Amino acid sequence: MELEFVPLPNGVGSEIRGLDPREIGGAEEAALQEAFLRNSVLLLRDLQLTPESHLALTHILGEPEIHPMAPARPGQPPEIIEPSYSAGGAHDPDEIVGHIPWHSDQTYTQRPCRGALLRAIEIPPEGGQTGFVDTAAVYQALSDDVKAAIEGLEAVHRLARSHRLLGLHQEEEKARELAARFPDMAHPLVRVDPSSGIRSLDISPMFADAVAGWPTDKSEALLARLRDFATQSRFVYWHEWKPDDLIIWNNYRVLHSAAGHKNRYVRTMNRTTLTGEIDGRRTT
Ligand SMILES: [Fe+2]
Repeated sequence: MELEFVPLPNGVGSEIRGLDPREIGGAEEAALQEAFLRNSVLLLRDLQLTPESHLALTHILGEPEIHPMAPARPGQPPEIIEPSYSAGGAHDPDEIVGHIPWHSDQTYTQRPCRGALLRAIEIPPEGGQTGFVDTAAVYQALSDDVKAAIEGLEAVHRLARSHRLLGLHQEEEKARELAARFPDMAHPLVRVDPSSGIRSLDISPMFADAVAGWPTDKSEALLARLRDFATQSRFVYWHEWKPDDLIIWNNYRVLHSAAGHKNRYVRTMNRTTLTGEIDGRRTT
């Protein structure tokens, strides 16, 4: 099988063409594993995956994990979650739902996931894009002064920050329970991928709440500067989904964001998650 790699816009990974998921042998497995390590994002179209073949593809790239927050869907393998926003409900049909700010996945946990495989099932006729940034390219683009200034620093990641940004109100008891389950977690601002040695900027804006050990003002100024730098349009690829698109991202070097879509439309995806390899440091 001849695989073709076509770069995606703004240097964000590659589209892989020519893969037949029914005929993946050792050579294709090795090519996929290498591509996963060397790219931030991989796009594959029209694979016509089933939940079972989606999971089999996941196994080629690593160990699937059960997502810490999202429930599995009855009748599906528990490793597959189904992020879905249904039409209707009590909300205005033109209200934008499903918007998720820039983040890397699960950085509020001790061991954030290695990556994820997201497959489009039902896509709204407008909106619903996912934005991706290659944070290894972002790191490379930082000035030498900034690289030196952030070397050795850690950011403290908090689930509660995401609730604040999303305007989600948690009852006091629920907030306490979540804080106990997900204590503050420090991860280095410069992440080194243990498998490839590639360095990237780990600022997961939805969760990174402070620079460890820094006063609030100084901490917020640095994180805001890094956030603004990393999410410049020259680094961003907004993917317009079509049904049966599969996007694989390397969570060790990707920021992503969901644009959201009007509540009148349905957007249904299937996702598997790859178990992480690097532990953060608990700070509370
Ligand atoms: Fe995410």
